[in-house]
Amino acid sequence: MKNIILFGGAFDPIHNGHIKMAKEASEFLNAEVIFIPAKISVWKNESLPVEDKIKMIELAIKDSGKEDVFSISRYEADLKTDINYSINTIRHFKKVYPNDKLYLLIGLDQVNNFDKWMEASEISKLVQIVFYGRLNEEKGSGNIKRFSMINIPGEINGINSSDIRDLKSLDTPEPVIRYIIDHDLYFMENIKNRMSLDRYIHSKSVGLLSYEIAKSNHLKEPKKALVAGLIHDCGKELPREKEKQIMVEHYSEYINYPRVIYHQFTGEYIAKTEFGIEDEEILTSIKYHTTANSNIGEIGIIVYCADKIEPTRGFDSKDLIDAMKNNLWSGFKIVMDSNVDYYVRHGIDYKNPLTVAAIEQYYK
Ligand SMILES: [Fe+2]
Ligand SMILES: [Fe+2]
Repeated sequence: MKNIILFGGAFDPIHNGHIKMAKEASEFLNAEVIFIPAKISVWKNESLPVEDKIKMIELAIKDSGKEDVFSISRYEADLKTDINYSINTIRHFKKVYPNDKLYLLIGLDQVNNFDKWMEASEISKLVQIVFYGRLNEEKGSGNIKRFSMINIPGEINGINSSDIRDLKSLDTPEPVIRYIIDHDLYFMENIKNRMSLDRYIHSKSVGLLSYEIAKSNHLKEPKKALVAGLIHDCGKELPREKEKQIMVEHYSEYINYPRVIYHQFTGEYIAKTEFGIEDEEILTSIKYHTTANSNIGEIGIIVYCADKIEPTRGFDSKDLIDAMKNNLWSGFKIVMDSNVDYYVRHGIDYKNPLTVAAIEQYYK
């Protein structure tokens, strides 16, 4: 007889909180875990992305090192109907595993309304209900007792799939992040809709290169570089009027800069107001990605350089990329030399106060 945990959910997308729950529940109950993604996507409210959700769960399982005990069921994904009640899923698994002990893992947020589930009592007779996390039962509904639920102790890490969809968190395994980026899902669709295809390809490339440079320089939070790189040019294709309005209202001290530079400021504005980014390091990196500035920090330096040297720029930048990966501070000087050389050859005046401040601080 095996112990099997049924773990259903939207998984739109899967994140590290799901993996943590599954790992700890599996160890606590000495059980296998079957992930059962719901057919409907919260994101698109249609069934097509279920294949993407399944692919991402596969990647997360592989990344977790738990392939021996984690698996995926297509049962709900392959249903003809869009709406499914858990009782149907449970009856299905009872038939497939008649001699095994089945557990149903539910979210902490489901404990107190479990009595409203379709055929709740029947569910609790067919399977052992378990929930993960800490719950103050005194304030609860009495469902824990009523349905003989077992608590798997653990700390919930507060990640929501919606935060990942909105780029507020990237707390999901790295292969899942890469899948989202490669397939234009969630926040990537939002970025894509703001710009031409060429610029979108450039943005992806800046994001991924910034991430690689941040990782190889052992930054504590390399995902910040990824986020800043992905959205750094989101202000670039704003209608002129809108651009001017943002500059006048929020960045009037820079109004006399060349217009080509405006988009770093409008980009910061969009990052704040439309992507809800509050992290100062990310915002600063976007705000000065064209000119650089003093005190822009490691992420600022990385995004500034990655924007100039990413591989789709159309020149051989391999040595510059290697220099940045090797050491971002010495790499910055090499990239700066190459930039200045370019500006001089093309007669571009780069000596604005922001770039001069960056050179004074970082180029010594
Ligand atoms: Fe830019
Ligand atoms: Fe750019």
